[in-house]
Amino acid sequence: MAEPLDIAPATGRLGILTPGMGAVATTLYAGVLAARAGISAPIGSLTQMAHIRIGDRAEGRNPMLKDFVPLASLDDIVFGGWDPISSNALEAARTAGVVEESDLAPLSAEMEGIAAMPAVFDQRWVRNLNGTRVKTGESKWDLAQQLIADIEDFRIANNCDRMVMVWCGSTEAYQEPAACHQSIEAFEAGLKANDENISPSEIYVYAALQSGIPYANGAPNLTTDLPCMEELAIERKVPVTGKDFKTGQTLIKTILAPGFKARMLGMRGWYSTNILGNRDGEVLDDPENFKSKEVSKLGVIDTILQPDVYPDLYGNIDHVVRINYYPPRGDNKEGWDNIDIFGWMGYPMQIKVNFLCRDSILAAPLVLDLALFLDLAHRAGQYGNQEWLSFYWKSPQASPGVAAEHDIFIQQTKLKNTLREWMGEDPVTHSEAD
Ligand SMILES: NC(=O)c1ccc[n+]([C@@H]2O[C@H](COP(=O)([O-])OP(=O)(O)OC[C@H]3O[C@@H](n4cnc5c(N)ncnc54)[C@H](O)[C@@H]3O)[C@@H](O)[C@H]2O)c1
Repeated sequence: MAEPLDIAPATGRLGILTPGMGAVATTLYAGVLAARAGISAPIGSLTQMAHIRIGDRAEGRNPMLKDFVPLASLDDIVFGGWDPISSNALEAARTAGVVEESDLAPLSAEMEGIAAMPAVFDQRWVRNLNGTRVKTGESKWDLAQQLIADIEDFRIANNCDRMVMVWCGSTEAYQEPAACHQSIEAFEAGLKANDENISPSEIYVYAALQSGIPYANGAPNLTTDLPCMEELAIERKVPVTGKDFKTGQTLIKTILAPGFKARMLGMRGWYSTNILGNRDGEVLDDPENFKSKEVSKLGVIDTILQPDVYPDLYGNIDHVVRINYYPPRGDNKEGWDNIDIFGWMGYPMQIKVNFLCRDSILAAPLVLDLALFLDLAHRAGQYGNQEWLSFYWKSPQASPGVAAEHDIFIQQTKLKNTLREWMGEDPVTHSEAD
């Protein structure tokens, strides 16, 4: 049995800061406030709903995860954030249109009290948005200092003991890492020189890490996976994780694909298309922003199916992903998947999946879990990339030299075994002896 980690207790208030107060962030706030008031259950959240088996099956120990590891309580959470468009969470939730007016009504005063701070925003990275509540400064360095001051002001005003930051802002235009991303020194010089390769989300992650705050990246653009940020997270001893919340179609993909592979069924193609009409869909209508998303979505099948190990089954797959902006659908995305598989003697079969999902309803519990787990990791003295949180990501950040794990069942085992180890319990392997 492993020695348990020395984990500081979750006393006092936890501030959860979200750059971006759009559909996902406001659905998170509303759901937590509703759960706190006993109005609705936090469905979809492992930290609130899941049990975890400890020891042998025969022992019958199966506590709730939140009773097994010392997590912050929902009652101790306070929300804050930045947005270039909406001024408070109630207004933003109404714009997003995910949570219905009747469900917002009992929460409206608290939602209105969550004010959005003016954002570090640059339309060059999100062409389809016209931000007006935007910080100005002489340089990107100056903007970073303003964010650091916002964080400190928020901490004092809300009497927070600890804070975490989860990016819930729009997906930024695709970019490759540049020279300014190669080290902390180069990045800081780039901030001061207004390097055009530095995007707003990178300024947020820099401000968070410099403030000693754990950071999760909900969008597919680069941030915590840049060499300078990996270095900074280690130097400041802060845990980070990313990227791109695994919801909707990719969630279904990473549930189904491991099953086909487990049964050694072949695959010839997977065609995925979506219609969605929220602001995220509008942003992703721009090819540069969609490219960030496409790169994140396409990696999934290859790593699960291992075509190099199984060339006869998975060596020739056409994988196509499309997202179409269609305003009437709002946040209620519709996804269609056509999966061409083959079986015994090569006979082809087709599977059609039509998922009428609600993106932000699927994403909100992930934000809560990530915030609570990052806070736990921080109190447990963990820092740098938290690979055990790959469960939550479309495009998990892997350790150097290894491929990211996409199979949701392996990811779940890794998450739970990590928690078991931290608490000094044996991992569960599901071998006959267990
Ligand atoms: N909903 C999902 O299932 C899901 C899944 C994976 C990833 N994501 C990602 O999560 C993010 C949020 O999604 P959403 O549906 O809430 O989108 P949204 O468009 O409703 O909200 C994004 C918000 O971010 C704000 N914003 C843009 N740039 C900003 C900046 N520089 N600083 C602060 N705020 C900024 C926008 O004004 C907007 O209010 C997007 O990047 C999306 O791609 C969402």
